[in-house]
Amino acid sequence: MSSPEDRQKDPARATVRRILAGRETHSPAARAEARAPVNIALVKYWGKRDDRLNLPVTSSLSVSLAGLDTETEIRVCGKPDRLELDGRTIEPEAPALRRLSGFLDLFRTSPDMAFQVCSRNPVPTAAGFASSASGFAALVRALDALFAWRLDARELSLLARLGSGSACRSLYEGFVEWHAGTRPDGMDSHALPLPYTWPNLRVGLWTVDAGEKVLSSREAMQRTVLTSPLYSAWPTTVEADLAAMREAIRTRAIGRFGETLEGNALAMHATMLAARPAIFYPGAGSLEAQQRVRAARADGLPVWFSMDAGPNLKLFFLEPDRAAIGALFPGLRIVPAGGSGAN
Ligand code: PMV
Repeated sequence: MSSPEDRQKDPARATVRRILAGRETHSPAARAEARAPVNIALVKYWGKRDDRLNLPVTSSLSVSLAGLDTETEIRVCGKPDRLELDGRTIEPEAPALRRLSGFLDLFRTSPDMAFQVCSRNPVPTAAGFASSASGFAALVRALDALFAWRLDARELSLLARLGSGSACRSLYEGFVEWHAGTRPDGMDSHALPLPYTWPNLRVGLWTVDAGEKVLSSREAMQRTVLTSPLYSAWPTTVEADLAAMREAIRTRAIGRFGETLEGNALAMHATMLAARPAIFYPGAGSLEAQQRVRAARADGLPVWFSMDAGPNLKLFFLEPDRAAIGALFPGLRIVPAGGSGAN
């Protein structure tokens, strides 16, 4: 248990105090629920400049997946906190529940206040399909409803970032940029939507292995930043990729879009490969899947892949190629991305 002095100094608590300052303190409702979309980074967030506040070294850019939401219900209950994930009760000492409780500590208004959280994910949990991002984004929205804070999306993005960095991007639909910010207190490090849409962009989720990842992205990032000799090239790579990606989205240039997203994902994995000891998320199945995507492209099909901190692939392509891609990669879960605007 941390002392009141430690709590006073904790920078995450300072962020919460600052955001909630001036809001009326309502006693919480009995229950609340909310949802938030899964997001996939097109230009990745990899490496923190502050571990306690999840402040990133670089900005990043993502797309939210339409109709693929985490749904979360929260209730106030007697101690201890409880978590149900996809219908399964999580053991009290399990890492997922400890992490959740640590986050909820930021919001308790009395020492014996506890919460029961039930969350349903549309994608396998902790397998590199960004379930923690949509999970924390849905959770801060549910807390906002429970306590009737009425925060705006930027404020919710700042709070979600404290749970999981990439969660700050799941507060918006369509294309989203997380601005790294420069302030030590992180108040300028939040996501904002990009003013572009691409209605016929599609993402295919390819589950190569639904098992949970062995190394958390938090640990993997830390080790990469501290030990990888390739990490020093990462910020300049990201800067160039962000510029290329914004332009590719603005002009709907699928070739440039695909090359940038695949190159960026592989560059991120390259920084990990050079870490000591090496971090290697793709299994044999993922490597074979990557080869099949490259072969399809060599045969003239415009399709590219991305990968995060897990063995699974996300394919990006346009609606007119959906039938060909569905036939070539059976079992792909295909969802719209890129927002629904008509421009
Ligand atoms: O937000 P975290 O700690 O789960 O890290 C996410 C890291 C990647 O998914 C690999 C990249 C990203 O930008 O989402």
